[in-house]
This record gives sequence, structure tokens and C-alpha cells, in this order.
Amino acid sequence: MKNRINELLEEVNRMAAANNEELEALRIKYLSKKGLISELFNDFRNVPNEEKRVVGQLLNELKNKTQDKISELKEAFANAAGSEQKTDLTRSAEPFKLGTRHPLSLTKNEIIDIFSRIGFTIAEGPEIEDDWHVFGALNFPPEHPARDMQDTFFIEQDPDILLRTHTSSVQSHVMTTQKPPIRMLFPGRVYRNEAISYRAHCFFHQIEGLYIDKNVSFADLKQALLYFAKEMFGEHTKIRLRPSYFPFTEPSAEMDISCNICGGEGCPFCKHTGWVEILGCGMVDPNVLENCGIDSSVYSGYAFGMGVERITNLKYQVKDLRMFSENDVRFLQQFESAY
Ligand code: PHE
Repeated sequence: MKNRINELLEEVNRMAAANNEELEALRIKYLSKKGLISELFNDFRNVPNEEKRVVGQLLNELKNKTQDKISELKEAFANAAGSEQKTDLTRSAEPFKLGTRHPLSLTKNEIIDIFSRIGFTIAEGPEIEDDWHVFGALNFPPEHPARDMQDTFFIEQDPDILLRTHTSSVQSHVMTTQKPPIRMLFPGRVYRNEAISYRAHCFFHQIEGLYIDKNVSFADLKQALLYFAKEMFGEHTKIRLRPSYFPFTEPSAEMDISCNICGGEGCPFCKHTGWVEILGCGMVDPNVLENCGIDSSVYSGYAFGMGVERITNLKYQVKDLRMFSENDVRFLQQFESAY
């Protein structure tokens, strides 16, 4: 019996298999119910009592060794299969699908790019504001309708905490913390309590411009805006400034550009006037400069503010404002650009 066991131990040590089938055959040969090792266990009964201990140990050793060897070989096959070449390296590469920028980002980036060429830098401010930055510093009288719940989303009252209704609030931040000359753009999202329709939304985007220095005049404002209109909508674009009113500018104006859809001929988009309004502007009211700690006898400045959605509508003829926030890829995929 001992010899037979030692023989088998030798065999097991040398055991090798070329594939899984061979290995399975070996497992059956040694370890199955009718296998060689089970046979030996059956014969164990006949081993004389005084040898039982030694033979028993040997027999167990044989069984364990065989089991170990077979799992070892099995593992080796599994690993080899894992590293098998499964990728076809000759296949042409999948085209990498790039996303597109949001049309509002395209417009925003283009506006920033145009103004940065004449020295404007960028600042941002918070969307959640206090009354002073959005209204107080900007010369809004206490009873001004913009302060009404109808127009403004209030978060808290007394003291008022609200969602900014225009990016002019960033003017208040910049003018109280920086010294002139200031030549900056403030892009950002603004909120107004409006019913949502194809032409109004409860949030939209603006870009504000502010230039404060000595001897800044209305002529500087007009020239900067003409440059912008031509860069944005083409060399042939004309501008016109109509007197208007904003609490924080004096004088104030609204700027129209010649309708870029009909070229000024008159079409439904420009309501047959040949002109479309694109922004509000004016000379910064001396009260605003003083509110923010800037000496209005030394400095003057201009400001303008435009809606990014409005410029985008004009540029890409998007008819419904709601499309900008619906995240419909069929709409978004149409905008591809370097900006
Ligand atoms: N803040 C104004 C608006 O939201 C736009 C504006 C900005 C007007 C700067 C004049 C100067 O309508």
C-alpha cells in the first residue's frame, strides 16, 4: 500500500495537461468516486492496525497534493485564456464623437472675445444678492417697480436677499472694491419673475460692460458699441441709439442694430421697422459712482448690458427661448463652432 501511494505521489508531481479536457480526464482518473485515490481509501480497511496511522497520513497527503496540483493547472489555463488576444488591432478606430458647445456659450464667448480685443477683462458676481448691490447702489428709488415681488424673486425679506435681476449688480461689487481705470465685462445668469413663454423666461443671461476712467464720454460708448455691432453681425451693420431711462445711467439709451435678417428692409422679425433692439446703455450716473466710493468729479464712465439669448436669437434665428434650457440634443447638435 505504501509503495503504491508513493508511486502515485510521484505521478502527481509530474502531472501535466495540455488543455482543460486532459485536465478533466486526470481529475476523473485520480479524484472521482471510482478514481485511483478513492480505491486506495477503500483498501484502507485492510491495512493492519499498527500501520493505519502512517498510511492514513500518506493517503491524505496524496489526496491533498492531487487536489492542489489540479487546481494549480486549472488556474494556469484560466490565466492563459484571459490574456488571449481578443481585440482586432487591424480594425479602423471608432470615430470619437465630440459634443458641441451650448449656443448661449458660443454667443457669450464671442462677445467676450470681441470686447477683450479692446481691453475688457472679465469679472463675475454672485447670483444671490442683497438689495444694496442690485438696487440700492444703482440708484433705484425705494418705490421703484423692479423692487416689486412681481419682478424680483425674493429669498428672504428684512433684510432683503434676492436673485439678481440684472448683471449690473456686479458693477456695485467691482466699483466698491477696485479703483479706476476699470474696463470690464460681467457675464452671468439673471432671474426675473416672468411667466415662461417663447419670448420670456424666469432666468436668462446677460453680459454687462463697464468702463470707468477720467474723461470717458458718450462718444467712447458709441464707438465701442459700433465696433461691437460690426464685429458681431457684420461690417454692413448700422446702429442707432434711442433715448431711454435706467436709474443707474444718465443719459441712458437703448441701442438698435439694423435687422440682420432682412438687412434693414423690414421683415416680421423686426416688425417691419428694419431695426432690432439689442442692449441698454448709458453714462454711469454720478450718484452710482459716489455710492460706490468713486469721486464723480474726477471719474466718469459708461455701462451697457445685453441679453445673451437675444443676441443668440438674432445670430442663429432661434424663435423659441425655451429651447435654450430644454437640453434637446437635436437642437444642440446643430451648433458647432470654434468658440
Ligand atoms: N441692467 C439693464 C437691464 O437689465 C441693462 C443696462 C446695463 C442698461 C447697463 C444700462 C447700462 O435691462
